[in-house]
Formats: sequence, C-alpha cells, structure tokens
Amino acid sequence: MSGCFITVEGIEGVGKTTNIEFIASLLQKAGKELVLTREPGGTSLGEDVRELLLGHKHDGMSRDAELLLMFAARAEHLDKIVNPALEEGKWVLCDRFTDATYAYQGGGRGFDTAPIEILENLVQGELRPALTLLLDVSVEVGLDRAGKRSEPDRFEKEKHDFFERVRQTYLQRAQADSQRMVVIDASQSLENVQSQIQAALTDFLASH
Ligand code: TMP
Repeated sequence: MSGCFITVEGIEGVGKTTNIEFIASLLQKAGKELVLTREPGGTSLGEDVRELLLGHKHDGMSRDAELLLMFAARAEHLDKIVNPALEEGKWVLCDRFTDATYAYQGGGRGFDTAPIEILENLVQGELRPALTLLLDVSVEVGLDRAGKRSEPDRFEKEKHDFFERVRQTYLQRAQADSQRMVVIDASQSLENVQSQIQAALTDFLASH
C-alpha cells in the first residue's frame, strides 16, 4: 500500500507552525499513521543545508547555488524520509516543498520555471503532493507577524517586493492547479482558519 503526501505552504508569518499541528491532529484522529517533516531540512544533511541557506554566513550566495542547495536537501529528504514512509503506507505532512521553490527561487529570485521543472523531475521523479494547503495573508500582515519573532533569517531579510512576488507566484500556482492546492484565508481568526482547514481535509479524506 502506498501512503499520501500532503504539503503546507505560505509566505512568512501565515501561521504555518500552529496550523500544521492542527492538521497533524486531524489526520491522526482520522487514523492515519503520520510522519511530520519540513523543508529545507528533515534529515541530518538537510538540516545542515538549511543552516547554510537560512543563516547569514553566506549572505551573498548566488541564486544558482541557492536553487541547487534546495534541491540537494530535497533529494536527501526524499531518499531518507519521504519515499520510505510513503512506501510503508504512511501519510507524510511536510512543512514546505517544491511549490516554495517555484515561489521563492522562481517568483522571488526571478528564475524561469523551466530549470526548476528540470530539477523537480530529476529529483522527484513522478512524486507530487496529493494535497497542498496554501495559507495566504497579505505581505503586510505576514511580515508584521513574522517581524515580532526572533532575528530575521536570510529570507526574512528580503524586502516587501520580494514577498509580493512570492505570494503572487503561490496564488498563480493555486489557480492553475486548484484540484491539488487549496487556498486558506489565513488573515481570519484562528478559529475561522481552522474551520477552513477542517473543511478542506474532510473533502480530501472523503476521496482518499
Ligand atoms: P521556514 O520553513 O521556517 O518557513 O523557512 C524556510 C525558508 O526557506 C523560507 O523563507 C522559505 C525558504 N524556502 C525556499 O526559498 N525555497 C524552498 O524550496 C523551500 C522549501 C524553502
């Protein structure tokens, strides 16, 4: 039996952490054996690469290096965590995946879609998420919430325009692939956001 791959996306400050816990609890209540993981990261090598990508030691990193490091971390993550879990019939809930590469490296840094697609096919083969929940808030709200947290990482240091391009790329992808990507209006109260998430998952679980 093969499991099911679900991802959660959104710009900084959309409330991913709190809502991923909620999604995990719903899936567990539905009897799914769940692996909770994140990108970049999720493995020992991936977490080291995450430090390179998010820390400030390599502030002037080229955008090619950034893109390739994202996919290097992803290759290891798929090999060690995601694919084995799916093969065992588990459900995998991942905090960010390749939609983030299209949004941040594509929209944000200005990469064309074509090289990202090549790497996606190379590293993932046919694997794509079965469901992606896109938590959406305006850049103003997201950055305001994120700014209240700890020291900004290499991405959080980017300007408003960068996140506007990231957000628009996410929304365009959701519009083009509305069967897979569900947009959650994360500007609402937590109760309202969680009821949107619950409705999306109930729909999904009915057919999976
Ligand atoms: P977060 O997981 O704590 O939100 O931080 C991860 C950061 O990495 C976030 O700013 C988005 C960025 N990122 C990319 O730029 N491309 C990617 O493919 C992934 C997975 C994350």
